Amino acid sequence: MLTSGAPPVRAEQPAQLYMLNCWGCHRPNGEGIPGTAPPLQGAADFLKVKGGRQYLIEVPGVAQSALNDEQVAEVMNWILQTFSKEQLPRDFKPYSGDEVKQLRAVRMLEITKTRNAVVAEMVAAKIRPAAKP
Ligand code: HEC
Repeated sequence: MLTSGAPPVRAEQPAQLYMLNCWGCHRPNGEGIPGTAPPLQGAADFLKVKGGRQYLIEVPGVAQSALNDEQVAEVMNWILQTFSKEQLPRDFKPYSGDEVKQLRAVRMLEITKTRNAVVAEMVAAKIRPAAKP
């Protein structure tokens, strides 16, 4: 069906992809829901430590989303550049669909353990403060 007037918003625009697939848990500005989903503000810190770049794509909410590889790359690059601009490394290389394809093929079995290990790297590198007891 064709309609006249302004062109329709492309469904695959990253903000739109985020709204439809991630917003429910991670909230409009990536603030997250305590006890349910972590904030995405500051997510670019993961890029600074070993295993972090993979983690961001292998985490089940991302790897097992309904999005195709190109869309995952687009929405992740958008998240990092929108919610975590201040932490973004200057030499950040955006994810490509090919990289996402390879990374998401890896099934993350121990999610909490994997996340804790990456976060521990950030604490050790003083990128993040140690978690409060
Ligand atoms: C059903 C709720 C839910 C949805 C929907 C969801 N996530 Fe998540 N997300 C989580 C949880 C919970 C974690 C923490 C790791 C875990 O336990 O799976 C997480 C972790 C993450 C992380 C790593 C950040 C960190 O601090 O661990 C990123 C990046 C992320 N999600 C992005 C996305 C994107 C992009 C989408 C949409 C394609 C999405 N998520 C959809 C719940 C969700």
